[in-house]
Amino acid sequence: ALYGVVLAGGTGTRLWPLSRAGHPKFLHPLTGTEASLLQATVDRLDTLTTPDRVFVVTGVAHAAAVSRQLTSMPDENVLVEPSPRDSCAAIALAAAVIARRDPEAIMGSFASDHLIADKPEFANVIRRAMVGAKEGLLMTLGITPTRPETGYGYLQCGGELHEGPVLQVEEFKEKPSYDVAESYVKSGNYLWNAGMFVWRVDVFLAELARQQPQLTAGVSRIASAWGTTEQEEVLGEVWPTLPRISVDYAVMEGAAAVGRVATVPGDFGWNDVGDFHTLGEVLTADPAGNVVVGHETGVERPTVLLRDTENLVVVPGSGRLVAAMGVRDLVIVDTADAVLICPRERAQEVKSLVDQLKARG
Ligand code: GDD
Ligand code: MG
Repeated sequence: ALYGVVLAGGTGTRLWPLSRAGHPKFLHPLTGTEASLLQATVDRLDTLTTPDRVFVVTGVAHAAAVSRQLTSMPDENVLVEPSPRDSCAAIALAAAVIARRDPEAIMGSFASDHLIADKPEFANVIRRAMVGAKEGLLMTLGITPTRPETGYGYLQCGGELHEGPVLQVEEFKEKPSYDVAESYVKSGNYLWNAGMFVWRVDVFLAELARQQPQLTAGVSRIASAWGTTEQEEVLGEVWPTLPRISVDYAVMEGAAAVGRVATVPGDFGWNDVGDFHTLGEVLTADPAGNVVVGHETGVERPTVLLRDTENLVVVPGSGRLVAAMGVRDLVIVDTADAVLICPRERAQEVKSLVDQLKARG
């Protein structure tokens, strides 16, 4: 059976002011249902594994909220990081902890900030990826690109290793420049990396050791103290020294260069909920194109009053009435202590707005 590792880190600054340090996006029900992104991610694994084999790696600030949202998860399966060191450290910690229980375990790593429309097809794709993982490949899931997105990783597809298909990945290129991304999309030979990985923990840890010896040494020290009385002391000492790097740069690019990466192309309604515009495209709109996002689990959706509006993304949440009239193509986000209004087409820039805010102190 699969070991599922869900990464719940990062704050999602392009979703400010909804998503912020104290309440990151994975805790919000941005799914169009009552479930948070995190709950939906764990729920997607239910036909692939059992609750005792699902782990969440999260920061100390969010551990309590994570446990509260995931009632069926054993407490010891929430791996708590003292500080964010990016995805490679988080994945490596989980892999090392799982390897102590089962040295040849197959592990899937899942981002907690994606929407996936077709859960059964997602499970089929993961099962196919498990076949490649068993044979010692580092498996990715590949999504057909629709635009030259520079925030994603790209997989250059090679020959078919298995029916299904499982394709060799000739090159893994994380976050290319716009021009490069454009040429990739035009070539028709590249897929987006969906940010989910399936591999044997021993295979991953060996590749990590080859490319990231310092990270490997640190994580091995932590893993050998895991579950003992020394866990917190070793974690506190070693964790801050780990290189801050994502798994894409730290392992995947170099592993593809030596032929160890493969991909299963998947079509399961994948969406990285990066900004409010994209969110509006994924969720169901009214006939005029307006999307109202309900994000408070268990709380009645606050009233939104729209007259003669088109193509809005409205995120109520402060409890106040949000009314809009005669406007179009806007994002309107209301929270208790901040309001955002911007054109949908500039939703990506919210990240730099947050930088400006931070600079102001
Ligand atoms: N626990 C923990 N700690 N999780 C983390 C940390 C951390 O310090 N940093 C990032 N993560 C988690 C995020 O919560 C997310 O679920 C996942 O790791 C990926 O991190 P992102 O920061 O969202 O990466 P990205 O979106 O820039 O790029 C990745 O995803 C793309 C698809 O959405 C890459 O894998 C790309 O190649 C991919 O295309
Ligand atoms: Mg992301």
